[in-house]
Amino acid sequence: MKAPFPKSCLCIAALSLALMTQLAPVAQAQTVAGNLPNVMILATGGTIAGTGASSTTTVGYTAAKVGVERLIEAVPELKSVANVRGEQVFQVASENMSNDLWLQLGKRVNQLLARPDVDGIVITHGTDTLEETAYFLDLVVKSSKPVVLVGAMRPSTAISADGPINLYNATLLAGSKEAIGKGVLVAMNDQINAGRDVTKTNTSTVDTFRSPDFGLLGQIQDSHPHFYRLPVRKHTASSEFDISGLETLPKVDIVYGYANASRLPVDAFVSAGDAGIINAGVGDGSIHKDVLPGLVDARKKGVVIVRSARVGSGMVARNGEANDDALDFISADTLNPQKARVLLMLALTKTHDSKEIQRIFSTY
Ligand code: SIN
Repeated sequence: MKAPFPKSCLCIAALSLALMTQLAPVAQAQTVAGNLPNVMILATGGTIAGTGASSTTTVGYTAAKVGVERLIEAVPELKSVANVRGEQVFQVASENMSNDLWLQLGKRVNQLLARPDVDGIVITHGTDTLEETAYFLDLVVKSSKPVVLVGAMRPSTAISADGPINLYNATLLAGSKEAIGKGVLVAMNDQINAGRDVTKTNTSTVDTFRSPDFGLLGQIQDSHPHFYRLPVRKHTASSEFDISGLETLPKVDIVYGYANASRLPVDAFVSAGDAGIINAGVGDGSIHKDVLPGLVDARKKGVVIVRSARVGSGMVARNGEANDDALDFISADTLNPQKARVLLMLALTKTHDSKEIQRIFSTY
């Protein structure tokens, strides 16, 4: 029979177990006192659940292979910071994330957080679209209990896999009083970032998650979260968005700006029935002269147009590089295109009024 973990993992598990024996008195005392928080770990796939051909395989591995129970078993230290229970919500590589999976996940998170025996939630997730899921949940979770997203850049079979420490940090953060009311958080690489602001900045390094304009909220050191900043944009319990009755989300797509661009993608999305288009413009959200007429025509047909920027940081100035008032376009504020898509979909579940949608972009 095949061993459930490769040899390197078993060694790490044995080492962890030895360390646990030393930590056990503290952990047991906490458990007996019953004062450990109850944290649910919802697994959705990604590299954190990925397996490679060998311990040195850090690219070209298969994401979304290991189930939640094995993820939890691999980090026995979790038991010293929380009473953890796991649930496999789905198992995907996050490049395949979809609106339907977001609705499923968001509804499950809200169901669980409404229960008195759940103090916080950790969501294990692929890193590729983790920032989008984090922002979606930041907008639709109806609770101030902690929700922490976590992933890994190295598969579970790699030397120095970052999944175990990230999962440990995420779990202690989700069970901490410090994380209450701070919106959906992302805990990776010992850092705490806001779900709204964080973005993946590097294809492969473990320090990939950054909040370019605003910086991290805090750090996790020596098993303690240390916060230095608060998110001030509306989120979670104070958000106006409600997905409880939704089966689908309005169709919104992204048009990328580049030299020699054409209106072809805009026309295709309009023909496909999009309710909204995010223009990932160049610079301060500038639109190519050959794309602009497509967007103008789309707007005349009722499609909502949001100007974002492909540059990775900064605020798109309203009425700056385009006359938004005259064109009836919306500025994405500081949201990158993929996050602007999330907010526009949710905004369109409430209104099609462009002034109201601009208010929403200035609020969340
Ligand atoms: C994924 O996003 O599912 C694969 C990549 C990763 O998790 O780092």
